Amino acid sequence: MSTQNLTVESHDRIARLTISRPEKLNALDRATLGEMDQAFATFAADPEVGAVILTGAGPKAFVAGADIQELLQQSPVGGRFSRIENLGKPVLAAVNGYALGGGCELALACTLRFASSTAKFGQPEVNLGIIPGYGGTQRLARLVGRGKAQELILTGEMIDAAEAHRIGLVNQVFSPEDLLPRTEAIAATILSRSPLAIRYALEAVQRGLNMPLEEGLGFEATLFGVLCASEDMKEGTRAFLEKRKAQFKGR
Ligand code: COA
Repeated sequence: MSTQNLTVESHDRIARLTISRPEKLNALDRATLGEMDQAFATFAADPEVGAVILTGAGPKAFVAGADIQELLQQSPVGGRFSRIENLGKPVLAAVNGYALGGGCELALACTLRFASSTAKFGQPEVNLGIIPGYGGTQRLARLVGRGKAQELILTGEMIDAAEAHRIGLVNQVFSPEDLLPRTEAIAATILSRSPLAIRYALEAVQRGLNMPLEEGLGFEATLFGVLCASEDMKEGTRAFLEKRKAQFKGR
């Protein structure tokens, strides 16, 4: 599937969505954001999609931010990227270059983040007289802690992939050639596990983070209990004891 600013290629239940405006370093204009919303709605509804990889076209950028030309007409956009965060399927960011402003925030809304050694991250909005508006002040602070988040947001300075890894902003750093194959291999590993367990694990962590600890523990216990009654759980434990590979059905 191809739209004006996106390409989607799928194989083995992995959909790879490439944001493709390389001449503008894949900056997110309204058209691209609209196309992304539609693509994620399709992924949510399609049982043939088990995981999504999100990347940018060209060698230079993942996404260099919201389109600055359009910023003056911007309206408040609360909840941007919540659809990605709540997809119910893992979304892996393969950050192949600049991830600035809305690009960094897009990566933050993903389940996991992998970076090319050439990637650069930053929240440069204060240079433009604004603050991050696509979730950056909230998701960055929750991921890397208040101190590092404030340093990035207040200085507007970029950090390289190694520093992003050191502070926990990205899960792993790969060479540019390895970025997509390694990210796909991780997606494939996730897809080889029990689909029900993956779905509930995503939900337990995602929703649990917005709850007080006691409530989150209760939520986890409920999901754990439901999984204990699933066919996948019986198959997974039986396969272990019978020393064979589990055949999960997602039930
Ligand atoms: N919005 C709109 N256009 C953008 C853009 C953005 N966020 N980021 C880059 N572009 C455009 C540039 O205007 C340029 O277009 P042009 O060739 O028509 O002039 C093209 O992409 C290439 O960018 P350029 O700045 O020439 O590349 P560079 O290698 O010199 O610098 C960056 C790369 C990423 C450091 C620089 O483009 C930059 O600072 N971008 C803005 C980042 C930002 O502030 N993002 C947050 C927005 S809230």
